Amino acid sequence: MAVRDAASPLVGLVVLFFTWGAWANVEVNMEGRVEVYRGQTAQIACMFLSSDDIGGLTIKWYYVTRSGEKQKIIYQDSTMVKVEQGTVFTDRIRVNGTGATGQVVLSISNVQVHDEAEFICTIGNLTDGTGEGRTKLKVFEIPDNPTIEAVETGISINENSLSKIGACQVKNGFPKPNITWYRNDTPLRNVLDEVKVQTSTTIESSHLFSVNSELSLKVVKEHKDDLFYCQITYFVPGGLKMTETDRINVTVLYPSTAVNVWVESPKGKIKEGDTIELHCHGNGNNPYEITIKHLKSGKSWDTEMLVLKNVTLLNSGVYQCTSLDMETYQDISGNTSVFVNFLHPAEVKPEGPHVMAQGDELTATCNALSSLQTHTAWFKNGKEVSKDHTLMLKDAMFDTAGEYVCVVTVPEIEGMETSRTLLVYVQGQPKIMEPENTEMENVEETVNLTCNARGFPAPKIIWTTSDGEVLHASQRETEEGVHSVVTVKVTSDITVFCNASNEHGTDGVTFNIKATNITTTITPAPNTTTTPDPNTTTTPDPNTTSTTSTTSTITSTITPTISISSSTVKAETALPPKKIKKEGRGVIIAVIIICILLLAILGSVLYFLYKKGKICGRSGKQDLTKEKSNKDNIVVEMKSDNTEEAVLLGVNGEKQPPSDQ
Ligand SMILES: *[C@@H]1O[C@H](CO)[C@@H](O)[C@H](O)[C@H]1NC(C)=O
Ligand SMILES: *[C@@H]1O[C@H](CO)[C@@H](O)[C@H](O)[C@H]1NC(C)=O
Ligand SMILES: *[C@@H]1O[C@H](CO)[C@@H](O)[C@H](O)[C@H]1NC(C)=O
Ligand SMILES: *[C@@H]1O[C@H](CO)[C@@H](O)[C@H](O)[C@H]1NC(C)=O
Repeated sequence: MAVRDAASPLVGLVVLFFTWGAWANVEVNMEGRVEVYRGQTAQIACMFLSSDDIGGLTIKWYYVTRSGEKQKIIYQDSTMVKVEQGTVFTDRIRVNGTGATGQVVLSISNVQVHDEAEFICTIGNLTDGTGEGRTKLKVFEIPDNPTIEAVETGISINENSLSKIGACQVKNGFPKPNITWYRNDTPLRNVLDEVKVQTSTTIESSHLFSVNSELSLKVVKEHKDDLFYCQITYFVPGGLKMTETDRINVTVLYPSTAVNVWVESPKGKIKEGDTIELHCHGNGNNPYEITIKHLKSGKSWDTEMLVLKNVTLLNSGVYQCTSLDMETYQDISGNTSVFVNFLHPAEVKPEGPHVMAQGDELTATCNALSSLQTHTAWFKNGKEVSKDHTLMLKDAMFDTAGEYVCVVTVPEIEGMETSRTLLVYVQGQPKIMEPENTEMENVEETVNLTCNARGFPAPKIIWTTSDGEVLHASQRETEEGVHSVVTVKVTSDITVFCNASNEHGTDGVTFNIKATNITTTITPAPNTTTTPDPNTTTTPDPNTTSTTSTTSTITSTITPTISISSSTVKAETALPPKKIKKEGRGVIIAVIIICILLLAILGSVLYFLYKKGKICGRSGKQDLTKEKSNKDNIVVEMKSDNTEEAVLLGVNGEKQPPSDQ
């Protein structure tokens, strides 16, 4: 609390003026008033000039009661001090000094508010007669900190009478403190029909004052920003002090005079797909109801905040916001207009995939309808190939083919774009891209060969081996042509062709694979002599490996006589290889011996027949040619396939010649 006047350091005793009583011959001198806080001790001095000796002196103290009578409280002479019994001061007073120095002091301890009175000191002596002096005792109490209370509810400016703004209270002060209302640092006085300050004072049982003050105003709109407070003034010994309450403000309710409707988000231009947030506010603060209406569609919403998600062109138009005052039932409205920008999907001409002959020209165009300025560009493989909405392709070549993407953007609005793809094919004969290497040495069982063939229409790719076997490839079409991969089993040196063809021509590439694995490992470690059948390769059974080496020598012996077709070979591959292993080395050796014996017998029979001249005619010659062609087959199979199987085939096939005969 602000203390405007610093209290005088002289507490309790303040000399305001002096009275020199000269009623009689004794001159008495006293302070006009003595000021003291409640509860303290007051000292009232009485000074006198007397020619007499102290012996004849009598000093009497009185106070003036409320009814104005003099009431004696103490009597003193050279021999005694006598306190009058039965007064309010009886227990709390005493005198200091005998009068010998020309001064006596009356002390009143624990001064109370009702002790305020005029005190009289009367000096009498034998020669000069009597004289008296008077002092007023003033008592003070600093009030408690003041409080202020604002009216909680809003105050309408349409109120006909004065409205209460707030109340201030200050308690337990003495003398009575004053309350002054301020509005923005201007003190308020009663003004008819405008300002009314009502003050009531209560005297507490302690005789202290409590003051309550209530402010009422004719509230106008301007009061909404005003700050109100109370200033408390109260007397202290030697002066005046002030404190202030906190500031309060009031909620002034007034009807709107305008409504404001705006697009809160997005800031800037709106595009299709955006979420729009429309806000509407009246400038008043009376309770009101807001309605937002889209004029074009007639739709309306009872809300101050309208959220429209995923807007389209249809959401464009004028939005009207109406505010209805709930007190006056008057409505006012405001407008805002919303425009949703659009960008239609891009349209490319020609539309579908476009096929060009080599050397041809193409002018493609790309357009997208938009409410804003657009920028169009064409891209191929991520590179810009045209900065315009037209794409010119001249003198088409293989490299001209591909995917052209037209991208239309709206520079003003980020993220607003559309794109469309145009596929261009250039007719031409297949061209196989040079593979990384066509000559290779392979240590693995299989090798993957890749053939990339350009050309349009997409070339057909055929993989063949030098023995005419057609290999199954996995392939897919690419932008430029075909990508084909084949997995080749490598058991011996092999040549593989990749041939690509379409209606415009053919192209081919040859892969030569050297099976380095087989030649280098046979001698030192028969175990590693790999066969394409995984079952046999994984078994470390020495029986199987020994067969391999044996057969290679046998092959040549069998071939001239046994005919095996390639289809038979394939059928036999299905034989479970486990059986072979179980038979073991002994069985195989036995079979081989039987074979040799049978061949020897057959040879001798043939020789015998020949000698006898019974072999003649066409039938015999045909058999020989057949055998020759079959011999080739066997050799091929021995090389490219499992030698083990070839041996078994030889054995099985042996039964055929008797049936032929
Ligand atoms: C209070 O107001 C009254 C009347 O205006 C005045 O006489 C008195 O001195 C004031 N008291 C204080 C403490 O300001
Ligand atoms: C005025 O009132 C408003 C609320 O009605 C409050 O937010 C603001 O703090 C107040 N100002 C003061 C100075 O009390
Ligand atoms: C060959 O391709 C097949 C699948 O296409 C793959 O599983 C295999 O690992 C490839 N082999 C080699 C040696 O790259
Ligand atoms: C594949 O091309 C090669 C030459 O690269 C050729 O020798 C062979 O005959 C062709 N095969 C076919 C089936 O066209």
